[in-house]
Amino acid sequence: MATKLLTFVIFLAGVLPAADAAIDIGKVLGEHREFSLFSSLLSSTGVARATNSREAVTVLAPNNTAVVAALRGVPRGADTRALLSDVLSLHVILEYIDADKLELLAEGRSGDGTRVTTLLQANGKAQGRYAGFVHISVGEEEYDRITFTSGAIGSPWNATFEKAIAQLPPSVSVLQI
Ligand SMILES: *[C@@H]1O[C@H](CO)[C@@H](O)[C@H](O)[C@H]1NC(C)=O
Ligand SMILES: *[C@@H]1O[C@H](CO)[C@@H](O)[C@H](O)[C@H]1NC(C)=O
Repeated sequence: MATKLLTFVIFLAGVLPAADAAIDIGKVLGEHREFSLFSSLLSSTGVARATNSREAVTVLAPNNTAVVAALRGVPRGADTRALLSDVLSLHVILEYIDADKLELLAEGRSGDGTRVTTLLQANGKAQGRYAGFVHISVGEEEYDRITFTSGAIGSPWNATFEKAIAQLPPSVSVLQI
């Protein structure tokens, strides 16, 4: 009887996820070298830690080339880290979206896309009503492209979907932008 119970407990330990370790974004990105700069920025700004504490995320990841290009011309100052942290938080959508679901969201119920919530909104740091949201839609110029635009009025931030990098339902999706 005791042996049976022990076997059952060992079985459960194998199938049940550990209660505290749902997401490890550094580990997921670590399997893809071309995202090493993005990954180290997430850790150094504390955004990785905030991401790991969520139940489900979709991370919009630029590759190393894109990160270098984006950082060019950004002044190195006391504000840079805070600014980076905000921008990176906008790259973390608070739900699981794989490539199939992305297409549905881009179409939207009425054909003009869908608004999703990001970590920036959850932080309570978003300025203005729409700043912490990202709008997913089909590109205006290139109809076969799915674009992400910041909900902030007048925000220049936007990105185009390249490909799905990691899809680990139900908690982690990484989409290259
Ligand atoms: C990096 O991403 C950009 C899009 O931002 C893409 O055009 C480029 O081909 C990618 N480079 C590599 C090495 O994957
Ligand atoms: C995306 O940003 C680029 C450069 O900032 C801009 O030229 C382009 O019009 C923007 N696209 C959208 C859909 O906002």
